[in-house]
Amino acid sequence: MERTPFADLDGQPREMTAMLLAALDEMGRHPEIRRVRRTALESFRPRPGWQVLDAGSGTGEVARSLAAAVGPSGGVIALDYSAATVAAALERHDGSNVRYTAGDVSAIDLPAGSVDGVWCERVLQHVDDADLAIAEMVRVTRPGGRLCLIDTDWSSLAFDGVPPGLARTVVADMHGRLTPRQVDMGRTLRRRLVGKGLKDVYATPVTCVFGTPASAAVVLPMVNPMVPEHVWTTAPGVREKWLSHVDEAGARSDFLAVLTIWAVTGNVV
Ligand SMILES: C[S@@+](CC[C@H](N)C(=O)[O-])C[C@H]1O[C@@H](n2cnc3c(N)ncnc32)[C@H](O)[C@@H]1O
Repeated sequence: MERTPFADLDGQPREMTAMLLAALDEMGRHPEIRRVRRTALESFRPRPGWQVLDAGSGTGEVARSLAAAVGPSGGVIALDYSAATVAAALERHDGSNVRYTAGDVSAIDLPAGSVDGVWCERVLQHVDDADLAIAEMVRVTRPGGRLCLIDTDWSSLAFDGVPPGLARTVVADMHGRLTPRQVDMGRTLRRRLVGKGLKDVYATPVTCVFGTPASAAVVLPMVNPMVPEHVWTTAPGVREKWLSHVDEAGARSDFLAVLTIWAVTGNVV
């Protein structure tokens, strides 16, 4: 299986890691990602006093907002596999009640039942065994606590305003570099939580709409001209042709991309 750069941020060339971390910051500012997070938060409902684990916390923006939600009597553990990412999160720390730590979501270094809730956003598509990671999240959550899983359904990705055949080639290129599990992760989350015996599993698909190439490029690598050419596996010339059609659609104001991201919550029994 090909591993995504987010599966091993520390193993990337330094400039690539810096670019991906900057991309995480930018995604956190994107109105559609913020809408996904608001939707997930309404379902997660962290309470004052809760101890929350942010599993795969990236640069820590969500961990800091969860710390505000649980208040001074609660706290957040922001766990990420990548030392460079934990360092970047520490640089962004604002004094809120967050403890940043390096670790693997598939082997969480916390006692059973030690947290009230786990938030895990756009991480499971990057791990080798999502069910093992979910089992770990269930283990560390007390009975009655909640899980909130957020992930992308790359198979939902669609474009308009660009030649349909070319769009199909570009989407197929991306799907070809992912495993079926990575392509479909978002829609599988509900089944995975039901399978782990969680109750009141609630799944919300949030379809993100990108009306300009610049807006899409924040979330969709194939629209981002900064993504290096060597990442593409299409025939020579396809990337350039595609990006020029994307630009033209942007200039005509009829570019459109849609992508569904799922937010799924459930109660641990
Ligand atoms: C796409 S980023 C999402 C980060 C953050 N949750 C957000 O929404 O901004 C995926 C993150 O998962 C982390 N990650 C990947 N595999 C991991 C693992 N096995 N254990 C912990 N973190 C992991 C990466 O280092 C990266 O920071």
